Amino acid sequence: MLRSLLLYLSERKKLQDVILSRKFARGVARRFVAGETLDDAIRVTRELNARGMLVTLDHLGESVEREDQAARAAEAYIAILERVHREQVKTGISIKLTQIGLAIDLELCRRHLRNIVEAAERYGNFVRIDMEASEYVEPTLQLFYELSDQFRNVGAVIQSYLRRGKSDVEELSLRGASVRLCKGAYKEPEEAAFQKKREVDANYEQLLEILMNSNSPLAVATHDSRMIEAAKRLMRTNSKRRAPVEFQMLYGVRRDVQAQLVAEGYRMRVYVPYGTEWYPYFMRRMAERPANLLFVLRALKGR
Ligand code: FDA
Repeated sequence: MLRSLLLYLSERKKLQDVILSRKFARGVARRFVAGETLDDAIRVTRELNARGMLVTLDHLGESVEREDQAARAAEAYIAILERVHREQVKTGISIKLTQIGLAIDLELCRRHLRNIVEAAERYGNFVRIDMEASEYVEPTLQLFYELSDQFRNVGAVIQSYLRRGKSDVEELSLRGASVRLCKGAYKEPEEAAFQKKREVDANYEQLLEILMNSNSPLAVATHDSRMIEAAKRLMRTNSKRRAPVEFQMLYGVRRDVQAQLVAEGYRMRVYVPYGTEWYPYFMRRMAERPANLLFVLRALKGR
């Protein structure tokens, strides 16, 4: 109920405008967002690298409606790749296709995405294509398949709440494509997605097993201790696997577990978002764990 309300609010543009104008709200969002500038993102990346963690940077923004905004977002990503190369920090990038025009025109998005992946290849870097709401899954995978035929430095994301997850994972495994497995963060209808946590989790474990048995480079993206233990178990028992496996978690979430996994010798990558467009991202984090609202309320009280 609260999750649905928060996800609904995450899409309300008017509320976003009010909240973004509050200096205080920016302070609170800092718990989950590195800051508003690329300098902030590079500083946080360095700190995480120094603690033995890899990073993937997300320049916040999504659901872009104008071509000039999409072009600016694509240029920004190429600038990030140049800067990361210059500064020699250990980070890839994660991008949302609606930020570079998927909701405007498929061809426009294809062009921007190709430019970004080419730039990443030049700099020896990697592009993860985040997965958004279910209406975008088909075109996102279509663009991914086109590109992955030509480039190795690009990866897809699968959401275990989607009923179609299994057939997508089987296709990706056959291709040996790089996959990040997560549960899924959007409000989806019953026809498209499992609604019960129990079902989403069971599907996550099933997809994890298929992926572990394949030769797809795999990113296990979750904060859920049960999923983490399942991944560790599968890694121990699957001696044939050659492709790399890493854990991925969001910046500011379960930092203790992140450090613990590094201490145990696992590869750990932190998803670090930054930028001024943090509102929808922040609200989705609240929806995942309404206890985070307590954190916000406590901060409000102590203001
Ligand atoms: P679940 O939500 O069941 O939580 C399990 C436990 O983890 C909770 O009990 C709590 O202890 C802790 N926890 C989870 N979320 C928390 C939070 N926000 N704050 C504090 N504690 C929390 N989604 C998507 O649709 N498309 C995408 O491309 C991505 N990409 C992505 C990358 C990475 C690196 C991660 C970690 C996640 C994503 N996601 C995503 C988000 C993902 O789909 C999902 O919404 C969240 O990760 C929460 O799911 P969990 O697997 O953590 O389990």
